[in-house]
Amino acid sequence: MAEQTHDYDVLVIGAGPGGYVAAIRAAQLGLKVACAESREALGGTCLNVGCIPSKALLHGSEMYAEAHKGVLAQFGVRFENVSLDLSAMMEEKAATVKGLTGGIEMLFRKNKVTWLKGHAAFQDAHTVTIGEQTVTAKDVVIATGSSVTPLPGVEVDNEAGVVVDSTGALMLSRVPQRLVVIGGGVIGLELGSVWQRLDAEVIVVEFLDQLLPGMDGEVRKEAAKLFKKQGLDLRLSTKVTGVSVADGRATLTLEPSAGGESEPLEADCVLVAIGRRPNTQGLNLEAIGLEPNKHGQIETDREFRTSVDSVWAIGDVIPGPMLAHKAEDEGIAVAENIAGETGIVNHAVIPSVVYTMPEIAGVGLTEEAARKDGREIKVGKFPMLANSRAKTNRETTGFVKVIADAQTDRVLGVWMINSLAGTMIAQAAQAMEFGATSEDIAYTCHAHPTQSEALKEAAMAVQGKPIHI
Ligand code: FAD
Ligand code: NAI
Repeated sequence: MAEQTHDYDVLVIGAGPGGYVAAIRAAQLGLKVACAESREALGGTCLNVGCIPSKALLHGSEMYAEAHKGVLAQFGVRFENVSLDLSAMMEEKAATVKGLTGGIEMLFRKNKVTWLKGHAAFQDAHTVTIGEQTVTAKDVVIATGSSVTPLPGVEVDNEAGVVVDSTGALMLSRVPQRLVVIGGGVIGLELGSVWQRLDAEVIVVEFLDQLLPGMDGEVRKEAAKLFKKQGLDLRLSTKVTGVSVADGRATLTLEPSAGGESEPLEADCVLVAIGRRPNTQGLNLEAIGLEPNKHGQIETDREFRTSVDSVWAIGDVIPGPMLAHKAEDEGIAVAENIAGETGIVNHAVIPSVVYTMPEIAGVGLTEEAARKDGREIKVGKFPMLANSRAKTNRETTGFVKVIADAQTDRVLGVWMINSLAGTMIAQAAQAMEFGATSEDIAYTCHAHPTQSEALKEAAMAVQGKPIHI
């Protein structure tokens, strides 16, 4: 029950996967909870303009590509006149988003979480204005998430559809002839893949000499090889120094990252995907004396307390990977901590997945990070080409890689690139959470024939004894 002096026990600001989960868990723990959200729908970036709509388009475009140029004919499934109905694909995406965001509203009602509609700003640490109303709460959780990082000098206009960010790239009304993606990170590759599968020519301009910063080096190399083979034109070590728009077309100026001669590049659509930055503007953090760090993030301790008493923060707005499942786990932990329980998130074991085809996934240390730590490590690798199910399905690209401590055999990291990597990585994360050795994975019975046997074999390869290669 709310203390008499406050309207609520907990006010959560932001209803993304961090905020809505924190609100529900706090309510489950018997607290009186409100959640402020300025969007028209609950679910944050993830459900409205992120994880969910992008996966709907990835799924739809993959089915189109399969029917159009995939292996179906090889399996005797023949189509005539495969064609694309882009508006139907977009409607299906919208229906999924509506269903899921509506589902959160239902969960709020079921758990008696009050949705306060509007933009929240602090008056003091216990008093927050949301639109026209002002409420008080004993504890306040900042879960305001992140927004697209702008590229200086480049103006995004999602409605016009020529220079867009991820939100615009999820709602293009036609397939561009040529799409230039600025940034070879997760968004660039996922959304670049969507439009490439739908027959756009896609050019990815990446500042660094490799795609997917932060991922394991071998996986990054393999990914580049496979994306090139799929037809993505990768311009690595290249920067965009300007974009101008005239008559519905864009002209980009490209330059080698290290400097050098510039060249123009024409496109009918440009996607800016160079990262995201925390949302702290408009929160009036000055009123509570809370200052973001130099990256604009709100720092917290391990329990998600900020430096201001009774103000907590979780999700994309705090340091760490900007991932929905990280935000969700922090949402549960912060609510438990507020309720006097012990909420913990193991930040060393947070899987990351790129939902391209093949999928790319990893958890724990990369080989480079493990070596940089000065550790002695053993690495086991197993190619999907030697996995019977992958061979049967004609999905033989990629591999699984297990990195273990040479002394203790404890698994330090698992990286993979294959058609089911996003699902398979859960097993690796769980094994690592339980402190597994590579031997533990190698001696765990895996069902046959499944792609997950490749993880078992990669673990066996750590000891130099895989069976099928
Ligand atoms: P958010 O989801 O950003 O939610 C914050 C909410 O707070 C927003 O709804 C915002 O409107 C609201 N808000 C902000 N300020 C205020 C205020 N002052 N008052 C009231 N409300 C406010 N992650 C994955 O793990 N898997 C994926 O497949 C994936 N795909 C993605 C695809 C795209 C295209 C994008 C852009 C992101 C993707 N992400 C993915 C990242 C994921 O969306 C974020 O990590 C996640 O949404 C962060 O959750 P959050 O709760 O911290 O913040
Ligand atoms: P990102 O950080 O993944 O990639 C941005 C890329 O742009 C980097 O490779 C960077 O080197 C490059 N870059 C930066 N400035 C550049 C410039 N001027 N010119 C050319 N390249 C430049 O960021 P992205 O793809 O925008 O995604 C944002 C966040 O959203 C990520 O942190 C990710 O965690 C999250 N996300 C997660 C997904 C998932 O889990 N599957 C899917 C989509 C997004």
